[in-house]
Amino acid sequence: MTIQLSSTPSSNEIRQAFLDFFASKGHEIVSSSSLVPHGDPTLLFTNAGMNQFKDVFLGFDKRPYTRATSSQKCVRAGGKHNDLENVGYTARHHTFFEMLGNFSFGDYFKEDAIKYAWELLTEVFKLPKDKLTVTVYAEDDEAYAIWNNIIGVPAERIIRIGDNKGARYASDNFWMMGDTGPCGPCTEIFYDHGAHHFGGPPGSPDEDGDRYIEIWNNVFMQFNRDEAGVMHPLPKPSVDTGMGLERISAVLQHVHANYEIDLFQTLIAAAARETKTADLSIPSLKVLADHIRACSFLIADGVIAGNEGRGYVLRRIIRRAIRHGYKLGVRSAFFHKIVPDLVAEMGDAYPELVSNQARITEILKQEEDRFFETIENGMAILESELASTKDVFNGETAFKLHDTYGFPLDLTADICRERNVAVDTDAFNAAMARQKEQARAAGKFKMTANLEYDGVATNFHGYDKLETSATVTALYKDGVAVTKLTEGEVGVVVLDNTPFYAESGGQIGDCGELRGTNGIFEAEDTQKIQATVFGHHGVLKTGTLSVGEQVSARVNTQARTNTMRNHSATHLMHKALREVLGEHVQQKGSLVDTDKTRFDFVHTAPMTDDEIAKVEQIVNAEILANAACQARVMDIESAQNTGAMMLFGEKYGDEVRVLDIGSSRELCGGTHVNRTGDIGLFKITSESGVAAGVRRVEATTGEGALKLINAQQTLISALANDLKAPVNELASKVAQLSDHAKSLEKELARLKSKLASSQGDDLATQAVEIAGVKVLAATLDGADANALRETMDKLKDKLKSAAIVLASVSDGKVSLAAGVTADLTSKVKAGELVNFVAGQVGGKGGGKPDMAMAGGSDASQLPQALASVNDWVASKLN
Ligand code: ALA
Repeated sequence: MTIQLSSTPSSNEIRQAFLDFFASKGHEIVSSSSLVPHGDPTLLFTNAGMNQFKDVFLGFDKRPYTRATSSQKCVRAGGKHNDLENVGYTARHHTFFEMLGNFSFGDYFKEDAIKYAWELLTEVFKLPKDKLTVTVYAEDDEAYAIWNNIIGVPAERIIRIGDNKGARYASDNFWMMGDTGPCGPCTEIFYDHGAHHFGGPPGSPDEDGDRYIEIWNNVFMQFNRDEAGVMHPLPKPSVDTGMGLERISAVLQHVHANYEIDLFQTLIAAAARETKTADLSIPSLKVLADHIRACSFLIADGVIAGNEGRGYVLRRIIRRAIRHGYKLGVRSAFFHKIVPDLVAEMGDAYPELVSNQARITEILKQEEDRFFETIENGMAILESELASTKDVFNGETAFKLHDTYGFPLDLTADICRERNVAVDTDAFNAAMARQKEQARAAGKFKMTANLEYDGVATNFHGYDKLETSATVTALYKDGVAVTKLTEGEVGVVVLDNTPFYAESGGQIGDCGELRGTNGIFEAEDTQKIQATVFGHHGVLKTGTLSVGEQVSARVNTQARTNTMRNHSATHLMHKALREVLGEHVQQKGSLVDTDKTRFDFVHTAPMTDDEIAKVEQIVNAEILANAACQARVMDIESAQNTGAMMLFGEKYGDEVRVLDIGSSRELCGGTHVNRTGDIGLFKITSESGVAAGVRRVEATTGEGALKLINAQQTLISALANDLKAPVNELASKVAQLSDHAKSLEKELARLKSKLASSQGDDLATQAVEIAGVKVLAATLDGADANALRETMDKLKDKLKSAAIVLASVSDGKVSLAAGVTADLTSKVKAGELVNFVAGQVGGKGGGKPDMAMAGGSDASQLPQALASVNDWVASKLN
């Protein structure tokens, strides 16, 4: 296969040529994985092509292919790899970029990897060989020899780089995904942009200059590094490479900076259009061009702007973009208007941009509207503080900007940096900590959960038992420790053992009874006092209860069973929602109690009836399959390897519970049914929106579902009874009744109107005479516009020389008609007359000098308005 590139190939062409080249070498073309790494809650965003293959390198996962190639979406913003603040000011930093890569999973190794790279660069991309310099890991004689002897790169352009970062294997030429995981020595290929750029070759003091630019990294995956830093050889040596599409495009399009490539030029032009900026070299435009990519791709992959985790990174990027727009003079939402340009540019390669275009636009616009509300005031405060700042911006003010005006700290820092001012982040952090402490204290006070306890921890038995015997280790009344509770007293009981589940992970706490020898405590709720200390909240029904006493702790079985059904169904529903709506569905919050499960998740559009029915059907099919459920406790790493669903930002302990319910697999500490069949039946009761891009579904199971169905059945029977129709004919009966009602309404309107015009005759007698002219202003109940006009004509005939206003009110709306006989139109104009009246009832209208119509909305003013007609006409006649 020959792959031809045009002399100045587009980025799209280059991406495709890369994939085609490796496909021609037996590589499977694999789609980019999501920017939100699956099953790895420790990684903020996907930041390298190999992320999705991590387990394949480690030998945990197998694919049907041993060679793969991809163009991977990557984000380096927030977290460890953070390029956010450099974007727009350097030639090569991006928050979002595409990494082209080829991978071998125990197939070819160093020699072929190097040969492929060289062939692509020099034969397909036709880069001059003498412009390429390579580096190898100092100890990697094998790679050195391949470059030198087989490829023929002269020794002066092969540079050995050792452990130059202060520790064993800490080197530019030893690549690690993180502190642990797959890693190995690498060889990097550099392009020499020419002597007119400042900079030296890799390893030289001037290596960070702009002359020699790394374009491709070939990693020879050989080890799995464990937490202690020990390198374990991988089952099979492998290859992982990464080439930034934007960098190679710059080389092939004969430009120096990434922002000069085709793709960015389009986006920069779009940003200039939306900010009405003529000078395309302004750095803010680069920032906008970069940020629209990061924001749109993140939203397409299900990230929702918010106040923590990934959502906060997204919000910070959006706000940074808005600030740059603001700097260019924009004062209202504009950023979302660049989305169509991005979709046109990149939608073919990334169809998720096309399918999510509306959602991306909507979420960006909402974020913009929100920030534009406060940015003006925030900027005023920032500017006035800056005016009196010499070197260090006040941290308290930075916190105020954050807290009240929504200025993320890095945004304030960004603006300050433009004026060579630093921000006092210590003072900022102190203010933040103080506020958190105040909020915590307030929360404690409210919940009276501030209970002092230094006794033994509570052992929880509630996964498999609903009753245990236990010893009372502490009692509280009014938030204070006591030794005894007496009849009628409300308090909190702590036990050394309990089957009661304490509220967590969205599942409510258990209720039930604690029976002692001398009294019965009714527990209404169970809450944790400390991580492993459970407080049973309730009231002592009879007798007394003392510290040290033995009790029998019994969970209310019915309530707990209902809750478990709802909780297990939540897992099945979560999976079904992803199946029906797509993988972007992620849990945003949940509440499981005895009556229902409430589940919030990322999705923009309301669910259709069809989608709801499908989700119900999938969940009920799992229930009918009656599979046994299984809970396994294991360390977090093993749990990740099971592919269990995890929530980013959730703090999982070292040991986690992996729950298999039907075909779902999630990490969960909650209580669940033994078999899916125990859920009984699943019904969705409502679907609604709770925030931009977040939907809420409520559903019920078992007894709740039966109750729902019974209530619906009763309603149907009552309807059938009232309508005197058998149940299976209800629908046609209702349609028939509604048709009938419609035709009656029509008939009624016709008759009302007829009646009204016949009343018109009588109205003639109500006319008063002013200066020889008959003036009449009256209401005509029930008349529509037609009836008003007809009556008007009749009255004009009858009264000969007259000015008339007729009004009718229907549903609180006023209709008006004014008529003036031809002999008077030179003095009294019907249009003026009708507007004179309409103006008083909140409306206006118009027409000809002899006949005009109007409407109004304030019927309460009508009597006065009509009463004013006589004087108005009189004034015209004089
Ligand atoms: N995984 C390697 C990198 O990100 C190729 O540089």
